[in-house]
Amino acid sequence: MSTSDLFSSEPTPAERAAELRAQLHHHAHRYYTLDDPEIPDAEYDRLFRELQALEAAHPELLMPDSPTQRVGGQVLDGFTPVRHAVPMLSINTETDTEPSGARNFDARVRRALGLGEGDLAVEYVAELKFDGLAMSLRYEQGVLVQAATRGDGEVGEDVTSNVRTIGQIPLRLPVEAPPVLEVRGEVYMRRDDFDALNERQRAKIAAGAKGEKTFVNPRNAAAGAVRQLDSGIAAQRPLSFFAYGLGELTPAEQGGPAFETHLQMLMQLKAWGFPVAEQTALATGADELVAFHQRIGAARDQLPYDIDGVVYKVNSLALQRQLGFVSREPRWAVAHKYPAQEQLTTVLGIDVQVGRTGKLTPVAKLAPVFVGGVTVTNATLHNEAEARRKDVRVGDTVIVRRAGDVIPEVVAVLPDKRVGEPPVFTMPAHCPVCGSAAVREEGEVDHRCTGGLFCGAQRKQAILHFAQRRAVEIEGLGDKLVEQLVDAGVVKTLPDLYRLGLTALLTLDRMADKSAQNILGALEKSKQTTLPRFLFGLGIRHVGEATAKDLARHFGTLDGVMNATEEALLAVNDVGPVVAQSIRTFFDQPHNREVVEQLRACGVTWPEGEPAAQAPQPLAGKTFVLTGTFPTISREDAKAMLEAAGAKVAGSVSKKTDYVVAGAEAGSKLTKAQELGVAVLDEAGMLALLLEQPPI
Ligand code: IVH
Repeated sequence: MSTSDLFSSEPTPAERAAELRAQLHHHAHRYYTLDDPEIPDAEYDRLFRELQALEAAHPELLMPDSPTQRVGGQVLDGFTPVRHAVPMLSINTETDTEPSGARNFDARVRRALGLGEGDLAVEYVAELKFDGLAMSLRYEQGVLVQAATRGDGEVGEDVTSNVRTIGQIPLRLPVEAPPVLEVRGEVYMRRDDFDALNERQRAKIAAGAKGEKTFVNPRNAAAGAVRQLDSGIAAQRPLSFFAYGLGELTPAEQGGPAFETHLQMLMQLKAWGFPVAEQTALATGADELVAFHQRIGAARDQLPYDIDGVVYKVNSLALQRQLGFVSREPRWAVAHKYPAQEQLTTVLGIDVQVGRTGKLTPVAKLAPVFVGGVTVTNATLHNEAEARRKDVRVGDTVIVRRAGDVIPEVVAVLPDKRVGEPPVFTMPAHCPVCGSAAVREEGEVDHRCTGGLFCGAQRKQAILHFAQRRAVEIEGLGDKLVEQLVDAGVVKTLPDLYRLGLTALLTLDRMADKSAQNILGALEKSKQTTLPRFLFGLGIRHVGEATAKDLARHFGTLDGVMNATEEALLAVNDVGPVVAQSIRTFFDQPHNREVVEQLRACGVTWPEGEPAAQAPQPLAGKTFVLTGTFPTISREDAKAMLEAAGAKVAGSVSKKTDYVVAGAEAGSKLTKAQELGVAVLDEAGMLALLLEQPPI
């Protein structure tokens, strides 16, 4: 035996299996029984698969109590156990997130059915895999008599009184419903409901309430609400439901419905008043499964709730019976996952970044981790209070989340994995870039560098803000170039940009003659701008694109805006005291006026107009949301026309939306409008509204 064997810490397969069993038992208990997981699902899946692989390679290690042998979840004290009339099954999970995941499933189904190359394609129903918790709803004579969690699949918990508080679940069915009907589906929490709940929880905690906590994710919050012993509390946690299957059902011989396909059954559930996801679709053959997986994957982040994959089910119930089960899983269904949006990693350090307005943001530097489809190395901690609330410290193991284009964030720390006692994060007293004092104003959560444009970081951000496409648009003036220009001291203020010459540009790193010419061309072009773009580009705090447009429309000229009193500013659409004061403060500073004058002197110009007070604004006060492609006008033009008529054009649909204008291939915004009962117009309808002039 070599010394390396003697001192090796490599466990034997038996030791590793025991270790994995212990870990999985612990985490399954946290997840299923306490609704308080410590690790992301992806991490749990990894441990689970490792144990499955070990057991497959060493069958002698397989124990009857292995977590791979059961569904997980025990009955919590306080809930009455319910034996399911028909067991609640689990579903085989395909973790290969590529198209091959779908193709392999179709191939397995075809093989099991004895279908050859030349035989017909199998028809499937493709559904979403909702990230909530499974529920069985039992109706007798059309009345909801029992709601039960899955538990271990055989015995669950009676959570009827909590589930009765879910508005989307019918308490009574139409008369034609069969005498015994068990509907299976998922209870979940919408993301907006989850955010609002956590907001309320934070307020309670801040007010000193004991025993309150915030939730890590919507699934966890939904599970917690369903398993609340106090149904009064459950009622305050907004839950939703989707139906996707059946348990016990009165047999056809006794007058129950005779379904031939899974889809027929779903349609019937819908007709009886159960929510069935509108994305549910028929898919014939592997190609259509792949297309569904990709289509839903692209729309995943726009859904109002979390999904972690899609589910394919063989549509024909006769074929389902023929396929049957392997251990606890049906052979006729599979869950096809998407890349996980949460992963574990470690915090290598905490940096402080300086934004355009001097806002200091703590950013966790992470050991690179693949999450939500990209490699992440940074995650925002938002501000000092957030960093402390989550108690993120250097060296910690953390859960990072990245969903869609949203910046990655640290969801939670794994306290058990902390080594030693690293110091609590504190915001530095001075700006890390320019050394000016960092302050936090009364009532604000953010610390700010007080250096203003003296601070190199703020200067860079201010220049990038001015140069962006939505402001004056200086093509080619990006991060790297601005960094060099500011660091070299060539550009100190915005007007310095227009004083750049070929020689100055050519002294910069990797700047060829051609690119320098292009930059000068872009600078020249940017001089012809519009008042809203210019105003927005100045980077006045609280003045976004929409406010800049409102100001330009209201006052017509820059001098009008610069010289307006706070009172006059308050008369502008959507300008409140905070914004009015911020504008006034900005133009009260001589150096800001100087910047504006110099920019004008450098030739930056825009058409000035009349104050718009007299212009008719038939749609003032109305909020529109545009979605889809219109037959004759572009979205941009539609937006401009609506805004010219005084309307506000918003990005998302809410109760405050007055109209949604929907074109071809309108997506979730249209659905949301229909859900909320918001008026929906097509292009023609919108044009008609625009033409309706108020009486003179
Ligand atoms: S069908 C026999 N369909 O995924 C198949 N399950 O292990 C039974 N889930 O916790 C499940 N969306 O709650 C099915 N469209 C869907 C689903 C779905 C989510 C959950 C279910 C269970 C797990 C399956």
